[in-house]
Amino acid sequence: MPTLSLTVNGQAESLQIPADRLLVDVLRQDLGLTGTHVGCDTAQCGACTVLLNGHAVKACNVLALQAAGCEISTIEGLSPPDGSLHVMQQAFKDCHGLQCGFCTPGMVMSAVDLVQNHACESEADIRNGLDGNFCRCTGYQNIVRAVQQGAAQMKG
Ligand code: FES
Ligand code: FES
Repeated sequence: MPTLSLTVNGQAESLQIPADRLLVDVLRQDLGLTGTHVGCDTAQCGACTVLLNGHAVKACNVLALQAAGCEISTIEGLSPPDGSLHVMQQAFKDCHGLQCGFCTPGMVMSAVDLVQNHACESEADIRNGLDGNFCRCTGYQNIVRAVQQGAAQMKG
């Protein structure tokens, strides 16, 4: 089996995997990072969103070997080492941007990508930027408010 070497949340990892193994399965099953959720497994819902070299990808739609040599960030790596919440996580908490929480890790990672890499000035920018992330609890209004707060704090 091929060897995959990559960096996950700042830690170098090397493991032997089948060539057709998905990135989301490496994260969840091989590395135990179950904060990355699987909703649809068909690149539609965004629950599995992580950052690959700083840009949001749906990890159920990426072969793990495509991430060889890359830097992956998951929801577990977003908080500072002292265990406090990242400002975007805190904003979701403050603004009640989650109900069951299933979509939340993917929403937060997409929101961080949105602020870091895309236009995030208006409510329309946020709604467009998160259109690949579904919330089955339909809590979109508070999610938008959370991203507005988190974006302001990330930029500030
Ligand atoms: Fe990957 Fe739904 S589980 S997009
Ligand atoms: Fe339940 Fe979004 S909070 S799916």
